[in-house]
Amino acid sequence: MSRLYIGEMAVSELVGRLGSPLYVYDEQRIRANVQRVFKAFRSRCDNFELYYAIKSNSNLAIAAILVSEGCGLDTASINEIELANKLGVTGEQVLFTGNYLSDEDLQAASQADAIINLDDAALFPRLAKIKVPETICFRINPAIGKSNVGEEDVLAGVQAKFGIPFEQTAVAYKMARDAGVKKFGVHMMTGSCVTDPSYFEEITTRLMDIVGKTANELGIEFDFVNLGGGLGIPYEPDEAELDIDKTASLVVSAFKNKCSEYSLQPPRLMMEPGRYLVGDAGFLLGKVHAIKESYRRFVGTDIGFNSLMRPTLYNAYHHICVDGKAGNEVLQNITGQLCENTDVWCVDRKLPELELGDLLMVEKVGAYGFCMSYPYNGR
Ligand code: LLP
Repeated sequence: MSRLYIGEMAVSELVGRLGSPLYVYDEQRIRANVQRVFKAFRSRCDNFELYYAIKSNSNLAIAAILVSEGCGLDTASINEIELANKLGVTGEQVLFTGNYLSDEDLQAASQADAIINLDDAALFPRLAKIKVPETICFRINPAIGKSNVGEEDVLAGVQAKFGIPFEQTAVAYKMARDAGVKKFGVHMMTGSCVTDPSYFEEITTRLMDIVGKTANELGIEFDFVNLGGGLGIPYEPDEAELDIDKTASLVVSAFKNKCSEYSLQPPRLMMEPGRYLVGDAGFLLGKVHAIKESYRRFVGTDIGFNSLMRPTLYNAYHHICVDGKAGNEVLQNITGQLCENTDVWCVDRKLPELELGDLLMVEKVGAYGFCMSYPYNGR
């Protein structure tokens, strides 16, 4: 009764064969997610491109699925550029957005065959000293940001450490133009896990105003406009999905209207999502190994913040199902096996009564799950 499956595989069989804790991914779901985004945007904009943000899940088998669907790769470090290259993804198919880069990073980025997206205008002269790139992109902070993950995860706006304050945009591009850069791109990353289509319209409008003014003031053309990631997924059972068709419709209209308003030759339109593509395709399986009747009752599992950091770091909700048990019966406190009290990663969750040997399935851990895990306590 109520046995859990991922695709066609029974989770009990997976754990029986491979042990726990165990991350499992559903390839068909990843393909359906990426195809949905391509369809929504490409039906409205021919030159729309997707770059998968490999930071969200750097498993090469998963990145390979996204590459096979036509995505380039968005990377955040030299190591991630190397991962892209391992998959045969090179040149303009790789975007590199680092922040607070060292000279060593700039040197390696300059040698790597990737589009460099600088997070600060002050990095440009340091890069140019090594070599003036043919193409440059700058990450602009349009002074607004939004996140459904929480305050900690707002990636733009006046408090954020990312991007170039939009008032400095012309200074950055003028510097690049005067140094001999030939092709220009622009980037922003303002939202995280946003499920409101109108937000994407708002930020597109803002960025396109910046692009239009800069292009006309400096007499340059933009080769591409990258709206970043941030397409959200619902984590809680009663949350609504992001309407991707509506999002694409609003974004593409705003983009095209601004191209006309500023008489721009339409640049390529890009996005670099991670979570939307892989988030709901990942599951974390774990087992109940010990139950303690202390001042509170603790259910001890092999899932801790070493294997899934999001609940501890952001107080993030992940839905949990129990293999073979249904119904929400009692309030449970679930902990991992780490020597840290913050490892009680799920407090007062209504779940069926748990016993030793029960198998838990934690949902929507495909993005920022395994890649944020680490081997603390030797686990
Ligand atoms: N591009 C850049 C430059 C980024 O910094 C990010 C995410 C993405 C793309 C992909 O964003 P997405 O489409 O996945 O929202 N650890 C947090 C999320 C941090 C996101 C950091 N940057 C979490 O667990 O929710």
